[in-house]
Amino acid sequence: MSNKATIEVNGQKHEFPLVTGTENEVAIDIKTLRGVTGGVTTIDPGYKNTGSCESGITFLDGEKGILRYRGYSIEELAEKADFLEVAYLLIFGELPNQDELDKFHSDIKAQSIVDEDVKKILDAFPKSAHPMGVLASLTSALTAFNPTSVNVDSEDEMYNAIVRILGKFPVLVAWTLRKKKGLPLDYGDKSLGYVENILKMMFKQPNEDYDLSPILVNALDKLLILHADHEQNCSTSTVRIVGSSHAGLFASISAGISALWGPLHGGANQAVLEMLEAIKEDGGDTKKYMSKAKDKDDPFRLMGFGHRVYKNFDPRAKIIKSAADEVLSDLGIEDPILDIAKSLEQEALNDDYFVKRKLYPNVDFYSGIIYRGMGIPTEMFTVMFALGRLPGWISQWKEMRLRKEPIGRPRQIYTGENLRPFVDIKNR
Ligand code: ACO
Repeated sequence: MSNKATIEVNGQKHEFPLVTGTENEVAIDIKTLRGVTGGVTTIDPGYKNTGSCESGITFLDGEKGILRYRGYSIEELAEKADFLEVAYLLIFGELPNQDELDKFHSDIKAQSIVDEDVKKILDAFPKSAHPMGVLASLTSALTAFNPTSVNVDSEDEMYNAIVRILGKFPVLVAWTLRKKKGLPLDYGDKSLGYVENILKMMFKQPNEDYDLSPILVNALDKLLILHADHEQNCSTSTVRIVGSSHAGLFASISAGISALWGPLHGGANQAVLEMLEAIKEDGGDTKKYMSKAKDKDDPFRLMGFGHRVYKNFDPRAKIIKSAADEVLSDLGIEDPILDIAKSLEQEALNDDYFVKRKLYPNVDFYSGIIYRGMGIPTEMFTVMFALGRLPGWISQWKEMRLRKEPIGRPRQIYTGENLRPFVDIKNR
């Protein structure tokens, strides 16, 4: 195969090199396009055909349903690793040995106190505030309370910022939930594992001990691993682009949280549950909603189905589907919402509209069901996604900084008015 692509503009041919990744993905390197063509650019709304960077973190093949972090398959990681090991792997590139993992965990624990004044900010939010908005604000506020973590250049400074956010973020997540439930804010227990501590911080009642359920720890560990990274999706691209202005890790993560909030991205897990509840309220007629989803005059979409990249199946959905079955049967949960979910899944998998468009259940279709089984309120689902995605955002931000990527600044094709004279207000 030739290692060049030719683009002809206004009768002039220009050659551009091809870039080939380690999994043989090929891209046309158009870095010089504007220069050699005298200002011609490309247009690709939604970036469906645009690679924004080279990255050594996550590989996914949407056609084949493959997802790997640093070369390790998601199936193997979900089965054999825990979330903190996966976080280390994503951020530093290799699986940690026991000493490295212990040091990483102890550095995180040393940074797991959040300034008491952050509670005042949290207190100022109404109870009705959406937890994603609260989390984005509190994460952004961390910048003010940790000014040394803002302008980081060296790897040491980056490490300090990384362990800080990994220590404080779960506290903010737990506080966001506790505020919603009207429970006193708590700091958890340093003697516990990372994920165990998260569960305790979230669910401990003030007047009783908290018994950790191994089923819940295992389910949450798996869920967080499955969400830990997904290459250049909307929120990760946001983190990289905000970070490319050297705005700092906490500000970049806060922007990523806002991007994740939307129902077409991380907010889909909340939207799935709300959709299932609405179907139940409306008599549980799944066929009616299947028809609505297929009707082009109806804006309704089947939440939790389809994916921008996976056009075969979502490998995370396969893993989480069996985890969902396990958790719900272990916890003895019977829920009419689940029956509706199962009917929709079966109908969609056998429906021409969905089959033709390769619309399969995605990870969010099942994750919401597990979160509900765990007793997490629906509005908190996307916050749980953010908790899982944190190591991915961090690793992508770190890679972008270490590769000294330029500030993200796309071009546009202007389609507005041409130059026109100003019209005085009395003549308009
Ligand atoms: N229900 C019904 N029809 C759908 C759905 C759906 N969930 N998703 C896509 N389609 C249809 C579209 O109407 C379109 O049909 P057409 O070709 O006849 O016009 C076709 O399938 C292609 O859809 P696009 O929107 O072009 O696909 P895109 O790749 O841009 O969108 C997305 C992917 C946003 C995920 C979409 O499938 C969707 O909205 N799904 C529901 C929301 C959801 O579950 N999001 C979570 C994504 S996973 C994550 O963020 C972790």
